Amino acid sequence: MLKVAILGATGPTGKCLTQQALEAGHAVRAIVRNPSKLSDIQHKNFVAVKANIFDEEQLKSEFAQVDAVLSCLGSPPTSPWGEVTLYSDSIKPIINAMKATDRKRLICLTSAGQKIDERAGMMMKFFLKYVIGTILADMSRMETYVSENSESLEYTIIRPTGLTNDALNEKEPVVKEGIHFDLSNPTRIPRANVAKVMLQALMEDKWVNKAIFITMPN
Ligand SMILES: NC(=O)c1ccc[n+]([C@@H]2O[C@H](COP(=O)([O-])OP(=O)(O)OC[C@H]3O[C@@H](n4cnc5c(N)ncnc54)[C@H](OP(=O)(O)O)[C@@H]3O)[C@@H](O)[C@H]2O)c1
Repeated sequence: MLKVAILGATGPTGKCLTQQALEAGHAVRAIVRNPSKLSDIQHKNFVAVKANIFDEEQLKSEFAQVDAVLSCLGSPPTSPWGEVTLYSDSIKPIINAMKATDRKRLICLTSAGQKIDERAGMMMKFFLKYVIGTILADMSRMETYVSENSESLEYTIIRPTGLTNDALNEKEPVVKEGIHFDLSNPTRIPRANVAKVMLQALMEDKWVNKAIFITMPN
C-alpha cells in the first residue's frame, strides 16, 4: 500500500483516480480547496484536506505524509486572448515542496495536442488553437518546468486525448512515449482509463522521467 496525495481530487478525473486508488488498497490524501465536495467518499484510507496548491509551506506539510504526488489539476477554458497560469504557477511550489520533503514520485496530467499535427483536420486545428490553446500553452510551460527541474524527481507526464465520462473500457489503451498526437487512433479516452494509467505509472517504473501520450485503440 502506498500513501498518495491527489491534487485536483474534486475534478472528474481526480474522483475516478481517488476511487481506483482506494480500491487498489492505497491510502489517499486529497489536497483540495473545498473538502466538502468529497463528503460522499467514506473510506478508512481516505482523508480530504484543505490546502492552497500555490503555497509551498502548506504543500510541504501535506507531502511529508505521503509517498507520491498525483495531480489531476485542471483549468477551465478561457477566451483565446485570456491567460492560463494554473499549471505553470502550481508546479513550482509542488516541485519545491516535494524536494524539501524528499518526495520523488510525481505523476501529472497535461493533454495531447500541445503541438499541432499539420495533418489534423481544420476543426481539430481550430479547437486546439482557439478553444483550448491557452490551456495547452500553459501545460507546455508546466511540462518544460518539470523536465528542467526533475533532478531528484521521478516524474511521469500523461497526455490524454479528449476525456469522456464513460465507464472503464477493458481494452488496453494506446501508450506512446514522447509524442503529442497520433492520428491513427481515436481521439477520446474515458477518465476512468486515464486514472488507471496513472495508477499503473505509480506501480511500474517503465514511464519514469517520461511524457506519455495515451488514447484508446480502434
Ligand atoms: N477535457 C478534456 O477533454 C481533456 C483532455 C485532455 C486533458 N485534459 C486535462 O486533464 C485534467 C483533468 O481534467 P478533468 O476534466 O477531469 O478535471 P477538471 O474539471 O479540469 O478539474 C479541475 C480540478 O482542478 C482543481 N482546481 C482548479 N483550479 C484550482 C485551484 N486554483 N486550486 C485548487 N484546485 C484547483 C479543481 O478543483 P475545484 O473542484 O475546487 O474547482 C478540480 O479538482 C485537466 O488538466 C484537463 O485540462 C482534459
